Amino acid sequence: MSSPVAFVWLNDELLPASQACISVHDRGLLYGDGFFETIRAENGSPWFLSEHLNRLRAAAEVFRIPFPQGIDWQARVERLLAANGLTERLAAVKILLTRGEAIDLGLPAASRPTLIIYARPYTPPGPGEYAAGWPVAIFPEPRTTFLGRYKSLNYLFYLAARQYALDQGAREALILESDGLVSEGAATSIIFVRDGRYFTPQAPSALAGVTLAVLARAILRRNIRLETKPMALDELRQAEGLWLVNSLMGVMPVAAVDGQAVRLAPEATDFLQDCLTSEVTLSIPL
Ligand SMILES: Cc1ncc(COP(=O)(O)O)c(C=O)c1O
Repeated sequence: MSSPVAFVWLNDELLPASQACISVHDRGLLYGDGFFETIRAENGSPWFLSEHLNRLRAAAEVFRIPFPQGIDWQARVERLLAANGLTERLAAVKILLTRGEAIDLGLPAASRPTLIIYARPYTPPGPGEYAAGWPVAIFPEPRTTFLGRYKSLNYLFYLAARQYALDQGAREALILESDGLVSEGAATSIIFVRDGRYFTPQAPSALAGVTLAVLARAILRRNIRLETKPMALDELRQAEGLWLVNSLMGVMPVAAVDGQAVRLAPEATDFLQDCLTSEVTLSIPL
């Protein structure tokens, strides 16, 4: 089967994907010792690239992976999108940074990190899905690791959670904090409305979502604050609107949690979607 990804960046080289090889000793492969970002690109331009790079850089710093210096990231991503014929459509760009090769356990200094950037066509859910909203399922295993705060290559927990949801006929899994409070989705952050106010769950081990941050600043421009509050499971169903947000699909309403309907709020959905789009216009070019 031919891959839709024709070219990838591997460290400083733009290579045909078939020639881009990493070592079997790479710690990204051995231990999930690395981080990644998934970025939406439209018509050849990445959205919120600096926000994604800031999160990647912060994770690298915490885990002592040297962050690549002297790279014109915007130019690299745009060149990649052009090389793959993705300048006139939606695309998903992935930036992966691993520690590279090193034998010792712990977080040793490696000779050099491995940097991979690739891009593939992205097809978002259809308008009907955005209108109807997604059913979600609560993943019964709470997340008990601080790694949740980072977009690490240890993604198996989220893959298992998403599969659990799919097996229940849902589209996304809700992840719980270790104390049973709602944290986030398997690949999404959460926004909800309660008493006419916008909230995101207070979730100490959730990822700091780029889309969430962008939406928070967008609605603040309209004098509305995105507040934080602990969210118990029974509050989910009382929400006057509940949304999943991430970089690729934007704002997706939730229609049901574990088979129980959640109120749809189409006007608020339009509001959030408009807020997100308006920030893109504000942030291009970098
Ligand atoms: C666990 C998790 N939470 C939240 C998000 C949303 O993050 P962002 O808005 O930065 O895409 C993601 C993205 O994939 C994720 O993996």
